Amino acid sequence: AGLHVLAKQAGKLYFGTATDNPELTNTSYTAILNNSQMFGQITAANSMKWDATEPQQGVFTFAAGDVIANLAKQNGQLLRGHNCVWHNQLPSWVTAGNFNAAQLTQIIQTRCSTLVGHYKGQVWDVVNEPFNDDGTFRQDVFFNTLGQSYIATALNAAKAADPDAKVYINDFNIEGTGAKATSMKTLIKSLKSQGVPIEGIGLQSHFIVGEVPTTLVQNMQEFAALGVEIAITELDVRMTLPETAALLAQQKKDYETVIAACQAVPQCVGVTVWDFTDKFSWVPGTFAGQGAACPWDENFVRKPAFDGIVAGF
Ligand code: G3I
Repeated sequence: AGLHVLAKQAGKLYFGTATDNPELTNTSYTAILNNSQMFGQITAANSMKWDATEPQQGVFTFAAGDVIANLAKQNGQLLRGHNCVWHNQLPSWVTAGNFNAAQLTQIIQTRCSTLVGHYKGQVWDVVNEPFNDDGTFRQDVFFNTLGQSYIATALNAAKAADPDAKVYINDFNIEGTGAKATSMKTLIKSLKSQGVPIEGIGLQSHFIVGEVPTTLVQNMQEFAALGVEIAITELDVRMTLPETAALLAQQKKDYETVIAACQAVPQCVGVTVWDFTDKFSWVPGTFAGQGAACPWDENFVRKPAFDGIVAGF
């Protein structure tokens, strides 16, 4: 059976994948992507980001994002919105704008409400990657201008634009316990105490073979205890190339470990891989000499990691 079917049978809402517009011309790729038994959810890897959707202030372009949204609809797949506010892939008018606090607040409100209002009824990574790895707030244009208030501004604007949207904060290196996860928990408590909508935490889960945190389940339980749901939003498990049988075997175990952790925590609602084939993985472009992070290889052949996912469910 397909991975989404297995996820549903195991009580989860979905198994999904990221995808990106340029990939959709590859028919070997789309044959797998469009199989709704394999993937019950998709996330746009780039085309709903700020640079792609508001290239000039107040000028919104949804054409590329709409392609992904329409694909999800056509395939009967859930859509995850990614993302409203993030330090990366910003249009230059945001980074170079030298806006004051009132102006930047308004800019965030306009962006979040327009974006979330355009794609109604979705789950959203409203705020992406607010923390540094040591648990301090990332010193990006939003924090430097507004302090942590930008997070509440974004969440409030998203929820006001669509009360049916589910609003998340998404980050990496918060999958296991530690300083960064602790800061996220403190933030959730603070937001909840102020009545700011925060309904879910995305654990990106960009892992390294053999280095999956051992505290996944405990950490997810601690998030769940704060009254938020959890999603594994960007799973991949990279390795230093070349691939070896031993690395692929460890990678299989690693995928199984992550899926089994989600299985162990009822509030973990689903798992998304950050694209399913090594052909279109972001990893080699970012980490020289690393890759092979996905469950399908570059030729769309299933790797041991695929069987690890099956075993995890
Ligand atoms: O659009 C330009 C294109 O015009 C140009 O010709 C080409 C040449 O390099 O670059 C294209 O932009 C690239 C863009 O992806 C679209 O393909 C950027 O260089 C490239 O840096 C960008 O990478 C994306 C990355 O986010 C940026 O940080 C990846 O595809 C995307 O998978 C990745 O996704 C992020 C999540 O959003 C957040 N969590 C981490 C995750 C992995 O980095």
